[in-house]
Amino acid sequence: MSSQDSAEFSHTTVLLDETVAMVLGAKKLADVPKSSVSGVYVDATFGRGGHSRLLLEYLADDAVLVVFDKDPQAIAVADELAAVDRRVKVVHDSFASLTDSLTRLGIDQVDGLMADLGVSSPQLDDGARGFSFMRDGTVDMRMDTSRGEPVSAWLARVSADELADVLYEYGEERHSRRIARAIKAMENYDSTLALAETIKQAHPNWQKGKHPATQSFQAMRIFINNELGDVDEFLCQSIDALKAGGQLAVISFHSLEDRRIKQFLQKHSRGQYEEDAHLPMPPIRPKYFGKPKRVAPSDQEVKANPRARSAWLRGAMRTDVAFEK
Ligand SMILES: C[S@@+](CC[C@H](N)C(=O)[O-])C[C@H]1O[C@@H](n2cnc3c(N)ncnc32)[C@H](O)[C@@H]1O
Repeated sequence: MSSQDSAEFSHTTVLLDETVAMVLGAKKLADVPKSSVSGVYVDATFGRGGHSRLLLEYLADDAVLVVFDKDPQAIAVADELAAVDRRVKVVHDSFASLTDSLTRLGIDQVDGLMADLGVSSPQLDDGARGFSFMRDGTVDMRMDTSRGEPVSAWLARVSADELADVLYEYGEERHSRRIARAIKAMENYDSTLALAETIKQAHPNWQKGKHPATQSFQAMRIFINNELGDVDEFLCQSIDALKAGGQLAVISFHSLEDRRIKQFLQKHSRGQYEEDAHLPMPPIRPKYFGKPKRVAPSDQEVKANPRARSAWLRGAMRTDVAFEK
């Protein structure tokens, strides 16, 4: 797939300067001279490379930037960048493979890890990908179209109860049971617009300014791409992947993700006793990260790019303090 196939779909990068500053461990980007930073960095969600391209401006000639994406169209764009910038190494895989993929590249630990979670605008804007309830396409929703099962195949075999559980858990959809029954009564899942209309008709409580299928589409997308499981893996592996002094910076777009990142950073930035009543001397939980940081987009950014309104950037520095009493 050539990146030209997707060139008509562009992505406006969210929290651009803030994320690159955080991953470089700087208060603001203006403090960092261009082309000055050596070391190894990771962009776990390349997309169209907005964060990567800005980070590369600050990296020195001998630095390395490893970029991940699940999406073959994003990878086509990343390959083009790697062809003209030898600092860039491309991994077509989930960021849940972080430490294994780094090992395969001969990299032990890195100086900075950034991720901008969720879907990109090109994925949403291309109806054929099946992510959007505004544009028609088959109900696919896979980020990695080279493997796995599209939502349409899953819907055809799942029970109404299992579907309702997914809508409730990943979409926080209060009317999950009746929506699931209506979806299961459909003849096929060839059309995102038909699916959205079915959900709309089954939904008893439309909110102004919000399509009634919003939460159900989010839920199916999160489920089919194992989004929360991948985020948990990534966060967990970031502990081993980051050097002491290395920086983690993660952008999330909904509360299910943001809560996980917040709780992960809280848990690992406090040295605490593990709660294990069976042990006479409970082991001490290591303190892996420094004080968690949180950044929201400016009003100006939200005005210019409404997609930024629900974004949160969180991160922290990997410390070398292993234990704290
Ligand atoms: C919000 S976009 C990133 C946009 C990017 N920062 C930019 O400025 O162009 C999220 C990207 O992450 C990718 N992605 C989502 N989950 C992933 C995962 N578990 N592993 C690898 N890539 C993932 C998606 O395919 C999508 O391209």
